[in-house]
Order: sequence, then C-alpha cells, then structure tokens
Amino acid sequence: MAPSRLSTTFLSLSFIFSVLKLCLSIEINMEGLPDTGLNTSTWVTGELPPLEDIWDLNDIQIAAKNVLKPRYYASYRTAALDEITYQANLNIWSQIRLNGYSFRDVSNITTQTSILGYNFTQPFFIAPAAQAGHANKSAELSLASAAGKAGILYVGYAQKPSISSTKSIEEIAAAGLPNQTMFHQEYIWSNQSRVIDELQRMEKAGFKAIFLTVDNTGVNGIRTRSLRYTGAQDETGHDADFDLNSLANFRNLTTLPVVPKGIKTWQDAKKCLDLGFPAIYVSNHGGRVLDSAPTAVEVLLDIRKNAPEVFEKMEVYADGGVRRGTDVIKLLALGARAVGLGRSPMFANIWGEEGVSRMIDLLSTELKTSMQLMGVNDVSKIDDTYINTKLVENNYIQ
Ligand SMILES: Cc1cc2nc3c(=O)[nH]c(=O)nc-3n(C[C@H](O)[C@H](O)[C@H](O)COP(=O)(O)O)c2cc1C
Ligand SMILES: *[C@@H]1O[C@H](CO)[C@@H](O)[C@H](O)[C@H]1NC(C)=O
Ligand SMILES: *[C@@H]1O[C@H](CO)[C@@H](O)[C@H](O)[C@H]1NC(C)=O
Ligand SMILES: *[C@@H]1O[C@H](CO)[C@@H](O)[C@H](O)[C@H]1NC(C)=O
Ligand SMILES: *[C@@H]1O[C@H](CO)[C@@H](O)[C@H](O)[C@H]1NC(C)=O
Ligand SMILES: *[C@@H]1O[C@H](CO)[C@@H](O)[C@H](O)[C@H]1NC(C)=O
Ligand SMILES: *[C@@H]1O[C@H](CO)[C@@H](O)[C@H](O)[C@H]1NC(C)=O
Ligand SMILES: *[C@@H]1O[C@H](CO)[C@@H](O)[C@H](O)[C@H]1NC(C)=O
Repeated sequence: MAPSRLSTTFLSLSFIFSVLKLCLSIEINMEGLPDTGLNTSTWVTGELPPLEDIWDLNDIQIAAKNVLKPRYYASYRTAALDEITYQANLNIWSQIRLNGYSFRDVSNITTQTSILGYNFTQPFFIAPAAQAGHANKSAELSLASAAGKAGILYVGYAQKPSISSTKSIEEIAAAGLPNQTMFHQEYIWSNQSRVIDELQRMEKAGFKAIFLTVDNTGVNGIRTRSLRYTGAQDETGHDADFDLNSLANFRNLTTLPVVPKGIKTWQDAKKCLDLGFPAIYVSNHGGRVLDSAPTAVEVLLDIRKNAPEVFEKMEVYADGGVRRGTDVIKLLALGARAVGLGRSPMFANIWGEEGVSRMIDLLSTELKTSMQLMGVNDVSKIDDTYINTKLVENNYIQ
C-alpha cells in the first residue's frame, strides 16, 4: 500500500504544481503577429522575460505585453478607433516583393547614411514617443544612450517635466555621448510662450533639428484601447488653428532646421517643398491619429506619382509598422532616406538600455543580411529596381 500512496501524493503534488504554474504563466494572445515559434511557456506574467528568448521585434512586443501593467501596455500598443491604419501598417509589407540579384559582390556592406547632414551608422532611427518611463524608470535616457552607442539617431520627446514618466529636455541631452547627434520633437502648443521657451532650451541643450508634429493639431486620435483605462483624455494643449501662416511663423522661432512630421498626403508634401523645408516625415503616427489614413508605403507611392520632385529637393523620412530589416528596405526603395521606429524601442525599454541595444542589433543584422541577399552593398543604392509594388498600386493608386 505504501508505495502506491506515495505515488498518489507525488501525482497530486505535481498536479498542483502544474496548475500553479499555469496560473502564473497565462497563455499570451499574440495579436495575430507572424508566428515565428516564440515559446512563452516558461515566462511568468508580470516578470521580465530573459533577453536571450528574444529574436525579433515582434518578440519584444510580446515580452512587453507579458511584463507591463495592462494599462501601460495598452498605452503603447493603442491606436485610433478600429485600428485599421495600425493593422494596415503591419500588413502592407506582405504586398511588396523584393528583387534580389545574384552575381554581385556583397562582401562589404555599408548601412551608413546621413540625416540632415549628420552621419549615422543605420538608416533607421528612434522616433519621438511620449512616456517612455512606463517601461523603465530610466525612461528616455536609455533610448538616448543605446542610440548613441549604436551610432543611430534618437529623436527625443521630453513631454512635460511635471509628468514623472518623462525626463526633461536637458536630462535627455545629457544622457547622450559627447559626440552624439540628437534631434527633438515639438508640438504647436497654443501657449506660444511655452513653444518659445522649449525651442530655446532644445537649442541650448544641443539638439540639432526639430521634428514638428503636425498631424494632431488641437486634438489627439480617439484611442479606445487606452481610453478604457484612462477615461476621457485630457486637453492636448495643441493649437487647433495652426495653419500655413503659423507654420511659417514657427520656423522663425528657431535657428534649427524644422521637419514637419505626420505628412499623410502628396499635397502636403508638395506644400512643405514649396515652403522650403529641408525635409518631411511621412507618418500616420503609428495609426494613433486619423484612423483609415494610408500607410507610408501608399503615401510615398502617391508622392512619386504626383510630386516626384519632392525626393530630389528634400529628404523624406517615413515610419509606421516597421518591424523587420526588409520593411526598412522597402521604404528606402520608395525614396525614404531614413525610417523611424515608434513602439519597438518603447517596448524594448522594459530591459532598459540593454533591451534597446538588442533591438537595434537585431534590426541591423536583418537589414545587413537582407541587403547581402539582394545583392546591394550600400543603402544609398537601394532604389525602385529592388521592389515590385504592383499589388499595392493596383489596390490603391487612383
Ligand atoms: C507610445 C507612443 C507615443 C508616441 N508619442 C508621439 C509623440 O509624442 N509625438 C509624435 O510625433 N509621435 C508620437 N508617436 C508616434 C511615433 O513617433 C511614430 O510615428 C509611430 O509610433 C511609428 O509607428 P510604429 O509604432 O509602428 O513604429 C508615439 C508612438 C507611440 C507608440
Ligand atoms: C515550449 O517550451 C516548453 C518548456 O521548455 C516545452 O515543454 C514545450 O514543448 C514547448 N512548446 C513548443 C510548442 O515547442
Ligand atoms: C568597404 O567599403 C567602404 C566604402 O563603402 C570602404 O571605405 C572600406 O575600406 C571597405 N572595406 C573593405 C574591407 O573593403
Ligand atoms: C560623413 O560621412 C561622409 C561619407 O562617409 C564623410 O565624407 C564625412 O567626412 C563624414 N562627416 C563627418 C562629420 O564625420
Ligand atoms: C563618438 O565617440 C565614441 C567614443 O567615445 C566613438 O566610438 C564613436 O565612433 C563616436 N561617434 C561619432 C559619430 O563620431
Ligand atoms: C505658458 O508657458 C509658459 C512658459 O512655459 C508658462 O510659464 C505659463 O505658465 C504658461 N501659461 C499657461 C496659461 O499655461
Ligand atoms: C520670418 O522671417 C523672415 C526673415 O527673417 C521674414 O521675412 C518673414 O516675414 C518671417 N515670417 C513670419 C511669418 O514671421
Ligand atoms: C530597467 O532598466 C534597468 C537597466 O537600465 C534594468 O536593470 C531593470 O531590470 C529594468 N527594469 C525595471 C523594472 O526597472
């Protein structure tokens, strides 16, 4: 009798243990992201997964979902209304084919490029995003520092000194390497003294350009997924009657180059060219503002068709849904000079600087490897001979 009782006890103990483990590690809903075999069965909900489990940028998102409080994960992940644009940003890549050429020397690959005349090691950068502190106390400082060590551009956004999840303009500047080039984002506050004060501080702190966000003047998108946690959103403080005159006026408030961010039509791209801006930033804000706005791929195709001179006379940056080295290549091939990353660095910051560095490494490796496989050794040579966009054009171009 004794051995059998022992084994029954053992069986029930191991049963209880399994149930306990199940309670701790709840199956994570992968949100329809590509299945690359990520196995989260050993992860404990609310705990930081090991960085060694992470092999791509989608893994990073799932890790953030595992560890962050649901309200904070929602605040990063959220997008406007039905998230049609958010999903389109992620899905558009599967409609573009890459042409890979053999019989070419790919022994020496360079991803080096310049943005507004400043040299960087990669044609991708960390886009401005609010409230990095929800992922890690180091907040924007680890983003700045990881970018500096990798030699890539960081576009800071010191949201409001009174918000604890955000560092100040001066703290972000100080987190970089002495020789690091950083840009800073600005909004058009209806309080003009605030704009003037912040622009002066950005210049003094050493930021080299201003990305002026122009796609949420007055209001933000209605982001249902996060509203469920926060309740109705606060006033943005953004000027609602911001027009072309205000844009020209804004430019006179700083000696730094100004780059309008959030261009969603070829007409606005052309307007910025006519006004003499050195660059524009095509973006739908990661699907967080106007839902049903087109993807960067579609807007770039529209500009190529209706105002191709834009690409010759100004630098064009683009973002939205970039998760793979091949996504970077597709935007470069359509004429973008550099490509922004919004959510991925925010999610990677759950591990602080180390996570952000890993994210940069993974994407750099994918970019370099894909370039080798395509037979192109220099990012400046990536042009439309490397892509086929017929599927998108048939569905989209009017
Ligand atoms: C949490 C979060 C906060 C953001 N805050 C800002 C912001 O303050 N200003 C801005 O211009 N864009 C902001 N963005 C948009 C990003 O700069 C970028 O355009 C977008 O996230 C790119 O899409 P992706 O997240 O798919 O990479 C934010 C994005 C996220 C995810
Ligand atoms: C996931 O990992 C666990 C623990 O190592 C293992 O038991 C399980 O078989 C794995 N699942 C898959 C689908 O590979
Ligand atoms: C690789 O190419 C760069 C120019 O793009 C050149 O400066 C460098 O010397 C080359 N390296 C090797 C090992 O050929
Ligand atoms: C930037 O890179 C170019 C080309 O590689 C080089 O000629 C130039 O000197 C570099 N500029 C700076 C400031 O390092
Ligand atoms: C900045 O300095 C570091 C050493 O402190 C060096 O490794 C890096 O290449 C420099 N970066 C640039 C852009 O000059
Ligand atoms: C406007 O901005 C200035 C400078 O930041 C600040 O001192 C002032 O309190 C602000 N005014 C209002 C009404 O918020
Ligand atoms: C901006 O400054 C330029 C030259 O300093 C001036 O000609 C122009 O009228 C100013 N524009 C506005 C809107 O203040
Ligand atoms: C935040 O980042 C630091 C490194 O900067 C890391 O040690 C820590 O584990 C991260 N997570 C939290 C919750 O602070």
